[in-house]
Amino acid sequence: MLVTRSCSARAGLIRASPYCNSYALSVAITNKRSLSAGKKDQNETPLPHPIWSKDEVEDVKATHDEPKDMVERLALYTVRFMRKSFDFLSGYTIGKKLDTLDERSVLKRCIYLETVAGVPGFAAAMVRHCTALGFMQPHRQGINELLQEAENESYHLLTFIKLRNPGPFFRCAVLVTQVGFSASFFCSYLVSPKFSHKLVGYLEEEAVTTYTHILELIDNGKLPMLKGMPAPKIAIDYWKLAEDAKMKEVFQHIRKDEAKHRDVNHDFSSRPSSSIFQRFILMICLGVIYSFPISVYLGIRWCIKSFKRIFTPRPVESGQ
Ligand SMILES: [Fe+2]
Ligand SMILES: [Fe+2]
Repeated sequence: MLVTRSCSARAGLIRASPYCNSYALSVAITNKRSLSAGKKDQNETPLPHPIWSKDEVEDVKATHDEPKDMVERLALYTVRFMRKSFDFLSGYTIGKKLDTLDERSVLKRCIYLETVAGVPGFAAAMVRHCTALGFMQPHRQGINELLQEAENESYHLLTFIKLRNPGPFFRCAVLVTQVGFSASFFCSYLVSPKFSHKLVGYLEEEAVTTYTHILELIDNGKLPMLKGMPAPKIAIDYWKLAEDAKMKEVFQHIRKDEAKHRDVNHDFSSRPSSSIFQRFILMICLGVIYSFPISVYLGIRWCIKSFKRIFTPRPVESGQ
């Protein structure tokens, strides 16, 4: 409700945006859903996470970790390729060049990327957890950090979802990406945890750059609605913000979180992980589990075909 009221109050500014009505409507719908799910939100208790000070969120530098070997270089080039392709396909490259990025495109980009960003932490924690259980060993350090990272990314997503309600096509694209990225990252982590953490580290470097750019757009008055928009309650509760906090502060906190993920993942890439033998065994077990239904299906098909061939009467060949 607060966001909708704020939108109306800034009618002069918003009238310049052609999507004002649909945007306000989507915010209203999202807030209505939030109210109905309000009790659930209040009961959620996030994992312990850092509460950043004002100085910490303002002093974030876009750093770059130089690759030291082939694996790290491969991770860097993969991220650069992913970033360039995504920027081009999503219209971000053209929007940036023509200076036409608006609140709608920024929020869509953030929502889409945050649905992907929550995958690596959970997948990495799962592989570490499964190998530790399977080989009856103590947990290797870091599972808590990885799970906290995954949850942190989901709070980024939940915050943006309070501001914009994506359409069915967007939701389908998210689901398709989830399936593809989750499977790829999981396999990649089984093969090389070092490569996977480095990949996430470089992705987080890009995330810091993206949020810094968004903050510059807000400061330059290019995103007037986001500048004055009150922070959603979920963000105020999660980052312990002031009750009258604005979206700019939320973006600062998210950028600080991304900088932390960047440093943690670069650090994880050099930490000990489960052995290649343990991951190979896990890979075989999972391969058997996932290929079982396919094997059963192919087996039944083969049996039906064979029965049909046996019981189908053959045409009598005419003699010479
Ligand atoms: Fe994020
Ligand atoms: Fe992140």
